[in-house]
Amino acid sequence: MQNFSKGANFAVIGATALTLEYLSQHNITNVPPVDTSINVQLGWFEQLKTSLCDTNTTQWKSISEALSFVPAVVDTIRQAAESLLKQGALNIIIPGNLPTGCIPILLTNYASTKKSDYDNLGCLKEYNTIGFYHNIKLKETVEQLQGAYPQARIIYADYYEPIIQLLQNPSKYGFTVTEPLRICCGGGGPYNYNSSATCGQPGVPACSNPSTYINWDGIHLTEAAYRIIATGWMKGPYAHPPILPGYN
Ligand SMILES: *[C@@H]1O[C@H](CO)[C@@H](O)[C@H](O)[C@H]1NC(C)=O
Ligand SMILES: *[C@@H]1O[C@H](CO)[C@@H](O)[C@H](O)[C@H]1NC(C)=O
Ligand SMILES: *[C@@H]1O[C@H](CO)[C@@H](O)[C@H](O)[C@H]1NC(C)=O
Ligand SMILES: *[C@@H]1O[C@H](CO)[C@@H](O)[C@H](O)[C@H]1NC(C)=O
Repeated sequence: MQNFSKGANFAVIGATALTLEYLSQHNITNVPPVDTSINVQLGWFEQLKTSLCDTNTTQWKSISEALSFVPAVVDTIRQAAESLLKQGALNIIIPGNLPTGCIPILLTNYASTKKSDYDNLGCLKEYNTIGFYHNIKLKETVEQLQGAYPQARIIYADYYEPIIQLLQNPSKYGFTVTEPLRICCGGGGPYNYNSSATCGQPGVPACSNPSTYINWDGIHLTEAAYRIIATGWMKGPYAHPPILPGYN
């Protein structure tokens, strides 16, 4: 039997960076007839990795690593905002992070066999922790900036809570899709997100009624969902203070 515990080589003669499809669309045909381009090779690596590694351990490691970056990320945002404030900026909107564990691409790529890894909305708890923790630190920073620059309107825009609200009560907001984490445009799988057949690739279908879905392509929300979040930022309650004057 094959044993790849010491490594594996995915190199293929004549392999390209661009896909066969892309090349043929550009009339480049003097390439091997089988697609072995870099993303195909990466796919092979991902498949083998899953079979070799304890993905649970990897997941936990990557989450604690991600959390360890939060202070540096937040500090970089603070420095950028302060740089603008020192140049006289009077209106600054600082958006927080999404409930990362509810994003269909993550739900697909980091799917777990353990029910307890999911919350009551079907989101991955530990990945939501990253966005949640980032937001706590970011909100503290925004409050400090508000205190230090009282002449400016510095607004924290919440991306987390509105998405939780939409997922909790989709029909209230017009999202009649039966499974709110299922995406409109994609090539199959439990969330309709398929990394081998993503939205925008030839032949990958979109639903006929995107405004009844929360998520468009596994990463981005639909315009209908963004409209609700934007309204919550303009008029409240999802921006602190709301962007439009007169709403706080
Ligand atoms: C693969 O090889 C490694 C060391 O060479 C060995 O420890 C391991 O048990 C082997 N795995 C299988 C499935 O044969
Ligand atoms: C490819 O070749 C076809 C047929 O000769 C031509 O119509 C088309 O414009 C070419 N496409 C590109 C991107 O050069
Ligand atoms: C997964 O990782 C967590 C945290 O380290 C550990 O508590 C749990 O026992 C692990 N589960 C499995 C099935 O290895
Ligand atoms: C994902 O897309 C590939 C390529 O089109 C297809 O072969 C595969 O069956 C799809 N997976 C699912 C779960 O639909």
